[in-house]
Amino acid sequence: MTDIIENKSIIERAQATLRHNDRGGYTVPTDRLYPFQWNWDSAFVAMGWATFDVPRAWDEIRLLLRGQWPDGLIPQIVFHVPSDDYFPGPDVWQTNHTPPTSGIPQPPVLATAVRAVLAASPGGAAEIAEIYPRLVANHRWWHTARDPEGTGLVATLHPWESGMDNSPAWDTAMARVPITTTTTIRRRDTSHIDPAMRPKADDYQRFIHLVDLFRGTAWNPAAMYAASPFRMADIGTNAILLRAEQDLLALSTSHGTRAEAAEIAERIQCMKTAQAELWDPKRGIYVSRDLIANANVDVATSAGFLPLYAGIDTHAADLAATLDRWHSRVPWLVPSTDPTDRRFEPMRYWRGPVWAVVNWMIAEGFSKMGQPGKATTIIEATRTLIDQTGLSEYFDPTTGAGLGGETFSWTAAIRLLIEPQLLSPGIR
Ligand code: GLC
Repeated sequence: MTDIIENKSIIERAQATLRHNDRGGYTVPTDRLYPFQWNWDSAFVAMGWATFDVPRAWDEIRLLLRGQWPDGLIPQIVFHVPSDDYFPGPDVWQTNHTPPTSGIPQPPVLATAVRAVLAASPGGAAEIAEIYPRLVANHRWWHTARDPEGTGLVATLHPWESGMDNSPAWDTAMARVPITTTTTIRRRDTSHIDPAMRPKADDYQRFIHLVDLFRGTAWNPAAMYAASPFRMADIGTNAILLRAEQDLLALSTSHGTRAEAAEIAERIQCMKTAQAELWDPKRGIYVSRDLIANANVDVATSAGFLPLYAGIDTHAADLAATLDRWHSRVPWLVPSTDPTDRRFEPMRYWRGPVWAVVNWMIAEGFSKMGQPGKATTIIEATRTLIDQTGLSEYFDPTTGAGLGGETFSWTAAIRLLIEPQLLSPGIR
């Protein structure tokens, strides 16, 4: 692959990467390491496809929705075809769904992606009639399954749901999770990637402990919520859902009912009020909340900028100052953990490295919330990182080196999305 595309422009390489990772209507995050369809990867990837192949973008979304459960959950992974390259596979999840899926969600970027792809679809798209009710069901699922008390904050019950698997934001809460598992762990990731860049063995045992626990509830949402020793209001997931609710509200005016619009608008108000409570004045950023300990976490991560992406402008100037502080410590933005924190590890996955998708959302937030200069700085950093080192999974914020898997789909999608001349008015 690298040989074939070496001399092409980065845009052609990004497009070729999506085509290379296309498995007939859905896109794997990368060859081998992640051989199935991942939820939030596909949402970004659909927006990337929409810059050069709109019908293919709709396929991405339709295939992801094949994994949706009757109760509205859109799972983290859809196992369209078997593969030995990944653990834990369908035999561990045992969710009894066709096609097989995992049993937990991922950050709900999808409504935002659907709105963007629709805006890029000349003359609108027939697809939306089929997709819109699925999004409505999915957002209702978030509130009933994950905020049963109506607090305005949805709970994350497994670090994998946050998409930021081993973030230091989860350390204290994960320490409560036993390392015992009934499933035998056969990690495949560390045979593809240097273990120093991946979660540690104990993290993995705790991840699987939770999967075993949830499987024992037969994936019943109320039982999972009650049983989980890990229950966090993840600032990333909550901000992404709040943004997606606004995109769903926009879609509802042309594709839904007034009652749906009123229901969504009410949730938006409630979420905005609740997210304001997650502001940490000392760290100058929003943080996640441990819903079992009833305490805000004591570490700042890049997810803490995302309320900007959700349209909350209260602390835009403070967040710009925090970004400057971080930038004075590392040359490459945006590190996934505060680089002044002792838990910052520049090469270990979600404990320090830069992720292009997170950069895109943060830049979008700064741009809309009155800080266009910060948006430009982040977009330029993202562009340079990718153009200099390739379509890596993530990047070292201290050196700019590409890390993890190569030829990554969502990095390719973001490279396309930040190329101004490729942007349809809908994808801004
Ligand atoms: C890892 C990441 C997650 C991503 C998945 C596929 O699990 O932490 O965010 O969705 O890989 O790329």
